[in-house]
Amino acid sequence: MVRIVVTADLHYNISRSREPARRVADDACSAGGDAIVLVGDTAGAATGPLLECLRLFERFPGRKLLVPGNHCLWCRDGEDSLTRYESVVPAVAAEAGFHVLDHDPVVIGDVGLAGSIGWYDYSFADESLDIPEPFYRAKVAPGAAAVLTEHRWLVEAHRPRLHERHYMLGARWMDGRYVRLGMSDEEFLGLLCDKLAGQLRRLADSAGGIVAFTHHLPFDELVPRNRPDRFAFAAAYMGSPRLGRVLLSEPKLSHVFCGHSHWPGRWEIDGVTVVNVGSTYSNKRLEVLEL
Ligand SMILES: [Fe+2]
Ligand SMILES: [Fe+2]
Repeated sequence: MVRIVVTADLHYNISRSREPARRVADDACSAGGDAIVLVGDTAGAATGPLLECLRLFERFPGRKLLVPGNHCLWCRDGEDSLTRYESVVPAVAAEAGFHVLDHDPVVIGDVGLAGSIGWYDYSFADESLDIPEPFYRAKVAPGAAAVLTEHRWLVEAHRPRLHERHYMLGARWMDGRYVRLGMSDEEFLGLLCDKLAGQLRRLADSAGGIVAFTHHLPFDELVPRNRPDRFAFAAAYMGSPRLGRVLLSEPKLSHVFCGHSHWPGRWEIDGVTVVNVGSTYSNKRLEVLEL
């Protein structure tokens, strides 16, 4: 039997998350297992809290695996997010004995573990809001664009389509400010999908069963819906069905674990068990899978 302990969204850089993160790390270490997987948003731009959080798992007896989240790609001055993804986060992880699953899958017993931060392409945007796509690309809702000098041109360009409900919507998706990919979100997602597909092919040759971990959401079923407009705007950034298509194309896949939405749940999708860990800022959750 292989026992995998999973948590997500520890957000250790945020003060109200620190004590709950310490508690859940303690619980995970006591629970024990063959692997612990942190499915994204462990900390933010500063690497100190990331290292400190990973070290909370020091006494965990099994493999320590990390999937970055979008917050892990937030940049300090002069940084870019790809370097953070490919080098900075893996180096900090290694200091604490963690392996970044995105860059190399692992096999434990007969179980293959694949991982990807995943990303978004606005496919999950809430259509009822009827926000023109350029606002999603800029990661500002119309009400926010109207008061931000660098984004006001969007309001000018799309004024005929905008109405009162749009101007009431002052939300921003802060990746727009802190993530610097040097390519579009769709291009980054495409790279990640190719990488994940490659991992699944490799694991299909070497493992009897496969479990995948993606920070962003691969299926529409997981996207929180019917929420107030300020939250509904965020649906565009929850993930992409492209991730889901890659995952479901591998017949040996039995489970997928996600984070990011801070919305716990469990679904059966095309014979695959899909779990959103659903940690919030103040309440952290653990999942245990035994195969
Ligand atoms: Fe998060
Ligand atoms: Fe996230």
